[in-house]
Amino acid sequence: MDEPIRDISRSPTKLTVETDILGVIGERLRTCCGAMSASSVVVVTDHQVGELYAERVLDSLRGAGFVVGEFRIDVGEASKSLEVAASIYQYLAVRELDRDGVIVALGGGVVSDLAGFVAATWMRGVRFAICPTTVEACVDAAIGGKTAVNIPAAKNLVGAFHQPILVAIDPSCLLTLSPRDVRSGLAESVKHGVVLDPSFLDWHEQHVEAIVRLDSATLTELIRWNIRLKSGIVLEDAEERLDRRILLNFGHTIGHAIEACSGSTLRHGECVSLGMVAVCRLSCSLGLLAVADAQRVESILSRFELPTRLADSIESDRIMAAIRKDKKVRGGVPRLVLLERIGRPVVRGDVPEEAIREAYESLLP
Ligand SMILES: NC(=O)c1ccc[n+]([C@@H]2O[C@H](COP(=O)([O-])OP(=O)(O)OC[C@H]3O[C@@H](n4cnc5c(N)ncnc54)[C@H](O)[C@@H]3O)[C@@H](O)[C@H]2O)c1
Ligand SMILES: [Zn+2]
Repeated sequence: MDEPIRDISRSPTKLTVETDILGVIGERLRTCCGAMSASSVVVVTDHQVGELYAERVLDSLRGAGFVVGEFRIDVGEASKSLEVAASIYQYLAVRELDRDGVIVALGGGVVSDLAGFVAATWMRGVRFAICPTTVEACVDAAIGGKTAVNIPAAKNLVGAFHQPILVAIDPSCLLTLSPRDVRSGLAESVKHGVVLDPSFLDWHEQHVEAIVRLDSATLTELIRWNIRLKSGIVLEDAEERLDRRILLNFGHTIGHAIEACSGSTLRHGECVSLGMVAVCRLSCSLGLLAVADAQRVESILSRFELPTRLADSIESDRIMAAIRKDKKVRGGVPRLVLLERIGRPVVRGDVPEEAIREAYESLLP
């Protein structure tokens, strides 16, 4: 018999920011599943987040009548791999998670990218929900439906668009993050201000102290503002076919290359911070951006103690080779998001390689 047609990829995502939502995640997920019943849920998390929050989530899911399983991955970017995805598929097979099942990601961007990729591909796609627990994931990775794993050739090269049915953000989870992970995630928030909303960048400058102190009301405002900005772009260009969603790649072409060459010594957000500094300087050298605007971006990143120069040198030849492998390269030419002024990005596919190299080299110690 034919299966009823259902289009899970286009169902709207319910996004909610609520303190202590993890304790009621079961009923929230039940509501989101609506008429399409679900009985089985598999929670994917990493060992660190699992220790802190898995029990609360699993208890709530059981309380709402779900049959639950849990899969823990090792902490860190290396887990975003096809090998780890395969071990999750194996677990789903043993648990017989069928097409009515739901996969819940509990963790940072590594967990949500990986679990989302598994959800997009398991039985050609099952429903997916995210409980993001890092700043990075709350302000960026959990919004927009991009999922991916890395392969040795490059980061995020294998992936799918798969929108979650629910993103449940509990800002109080961020209190257990290391200060380094808090700062790292803030790079993406600054990015949203620089590229999409000058008033949001002003707001960062005015609230540095409350943000780094993780003041609850300030954090909630920061997360909500990021959600508004990013989902606005995603709604216009969900699958990055226009020149809208690519704007969110600001700082990422050089940033990803640094990340790939740094051997996992730097966090994603730290690399994005370095990438933003380089691309602002590049925009200045091409005569697009005023030096004062570039300096302002650098100064905000410094106030959040994000890196604006490399601590350890990486040869520019290696960086240029990594840039050529970037997904945004078309016909061998990288498409870069540059800046004309704060809030006015521009996509250019004609930037000379030497200019990119020079901008990168300005970060060297
Ligand atoms: N899909 C997207 O649109 C998108 C956007 C931005 C970033 N990303 C991806 O996100 C990844 C980076 O995400 P990340 O920075 O969240 O890294 P991460 O998931 O590795 O988390 C960082 C560290 O924090 C720990 N942790 C997580 N939550 C915690 C908590 N509440 N308390 C204590 N420790 C906690 C983790 O165990 C880990 O050690 C990268 O792979 C990047 O490519 C994806
Ligand atoms: Zn990023």
